[in-house]
Amino acid sequence: MLERVQKIAQFLNDNKQGNPKIAIVLGSGLGNLGQIVEKYVEIPYKDIPDYPVSTVQGHASTFIFGKLNGVDIVVLNGRFHYYEGYDMKEVVLPIQVLKEIGIEKLILSNAAGGMNPTFKVGDVMIINDHINLFGDNPLLGKNEDKLGPRFLDMSEAYSRAMRKTAFKAAKEHKLHVQEGVYIGVSGPCYETPAEYRMFHIMGADAVGMSTVPETIMARYRGMEVFAFSVITDLGIVGQVENVSHEEVLKAAQTAAPVMEKLVFEMLPQL
Ligand code: HPA
Repeated sequence: MLERVQKIAQFLNDNKQGNPKIAIVLGSGLGNLGQIVEKYVEIPYKDIPDYPVSTVQGHASTFIFGKLNGVDIVVLNGRFHYYEGYDMKEVVLPIQVLKEIGIEKLILSNAAGGMNPTFKVGDVMIINDHINLFGDNPLLGKNEDKLGPRFLDMSEAYSRAMRKTAFKAAKEHKLHVQEGVYIGVSGPCYETPAEYRMFHIMGADAVGMSTVPETIMARYRGMEVFAFSVITDLGIVGQVENVSHEEVLKAAQTAAPVMEKLVFEMLPQL
């Protein structure tokens, strides 16, 4: 696996422009952010030897090297989900690649269902912790001690410092943000009302089908992580409604301006 990661990283290093230390992974329906980046170069996943190809609608499937608010970044426009049939090692392969091209800080975004009764569709929730309910883990198997520890500390999975920067930027620019715990599940079904209720009782504020494996791998490889959810539907007792992928994409787009502004304003302060 590492050989493959290094080969992909080499290809990107040979083709990239700028020297990003920060990467942003865009979730479903959140691809607009890619359009406000001053692009140096955009590399489609399909042009990268040995790189997986995304199958899900709502993702553009490119690496964008560019600059946002004066900061060099790389944007991953499209991720690989466990529910697409990729195994965990494949889901987190892009994170391993990011480490190998010199990324130190990772920003993850996703679309999620809100379970906290104070949440509304279109809210942006800064993730302060997670619950891994995938029933799987990207670190299972023999450990490569030179990459990371066998038993990974997860006491501060989501960087306190990066969260502080985000809240400061949100306050300065009057952006309404929520905060809470994200629970990661395999999907691809959305939740039953009983499941939403259970997840909320378990301590989660939002539920989604990504981010957790990526955070685990990023922490393992020594990167700092900041993540947020765009709340695209509500799984709140008495308010559970039909959810469709189309509605999720639409709601994500409605919330996009807040999340774009948040990322834009916090970048120079990271
Ligand atoms: N559940 C799981 N994943 C999701 C949801 C949801 O309600 N909304 C967007 N992604």
